[in-house]
Amino acid sequence: MRVTFNSFNRQWDELKAKTVEALHRVGESGWYILGKEVSAFELRLSKAWGISHVIGCANGLDAIEMGLRAVGVRPGSKVLTTSLSAFATTLAITRTGGVPVFIDVDESGLIDLDLARQVLSSDPSIKFFVPVHLYGHCLDLKELATLKRDFNLKIVEDCAQSILATSNGVSCGTVGDVATTSFYPTKNLGCIGDGGAAMCNDEGISRTLRSLRDYGQVAKYDHALLGLNSRLDELQAAFLSNFLDSLESMTGKRRATAARYRKGINNRLITCAAVPENSESVWHLFPVLSPERDQLQKFLKEKGIETAVHYPIAIHSQKAMREYPHEVVGELGTTLRFTQQELSLPIHPYLTNEEIDYVIDMCNQWS
Ligand SMILES: Cc1ncc(COP(=O)(O)O)c(C=O)c1O
Repeated sequence: MRVTFNSFNRQWDELKAKTVEALHRVGESGWYILGKEVSAFELRLSKAWGISHVIGCANGLDAIEMGLRAVGVRPGSKVLTTSLSAFATTLAITRTGGVPVFIDVDESGLIDLDLARQVLSSDPSIKFFVPVHLYGHCLDLKELATLKRDFNLKIVEDCAQSILATSNGVSCGTVGDVATTSFYPTKNLGCIGDGGAAMCNDEGISRTLRSLRDYGQVAKYDHALLGLNSRLDELQAAFLSNFLDSLESMTGKRRATAARYRKGINNRLITCAAVPENSESVWHLFPVLSPERDQLQKFLKEKGIETAVHYPIAIHSQKAMREYPHEVVGELGTTLRFTQQELSLPIHPYLTNEEIDYVIDMCNQWS
């Protein structure tokens, strides 16, 4: 048996007819960027997410950069964040000239909010925070809201992996000033190319984000800001609108698979990573930890099961960061343990029951 990490061909089979229809519609409209399809998708996502303004853009990286700029990050501003994420999270901070301050994660692999409180207490010059709702989990939003209030923080929540995730029923991304997400094809709501969105509940911030994505224009050829070219294509938006119809059921499948893995995997050399308290996760990834991670990955590969590592190198240890100003608080021991021990099992929504059982069996057979 072969179990792939993603299944774009099964997804294409499902969405092909609607996508071809959308291609005809967009082609015949003669309007290819930032048009009716984008506006319709933004509105639909804002309803699904429960957030007032959705600003479609070119990718998740730009969304974070625009969010940071919109909340006032300037060259030299310290930005608290995690070293265990896609490099894009930090890259966005560096593109604003901000200085990342890395702190450790907890046993779930997500930024440790207790530690965040300690660091914010001891360094009042930190006024910005980019938490990442990693793996499809949702950080404790009650605590995040308390941190925001206690330290007067501006927060950009990186929700690239956590679309529709909630904490105690509250949607990720609704506690900070800006939420950002990615529609990279592997994401829970992926498009057929690159795409992303920045979201917020504040009218003023939404205007800034709309301007930033389009060269900083406030009206045609009237530039109030030094913006980006970060626009969303009509075709991608049309594809995303169709996909959005099935997102809830796809998320349900991911949750069911996660529940089966958590119940079925009982090899003492493999631990399912912890889930943050109160998180109703959307399981973008299914992380397990093993002291013999590379051996486990090799064994599963031999058995035809594709896996991936999120992430093999902590961001603060990346070569690209050597020359860039940043701070590291403490040893980041748990972050490093994740880089050495984490392995993500396949959890895409098109897995069959047989494939799920096979992954569980193979994990349990490994010794
Ligand atoms: C946590 C996280 N943040 C940001 C990004 C960046 O998104 P994009 O690839 O669309 O720029 C990603 C995707 O790779 C991600 O997983």
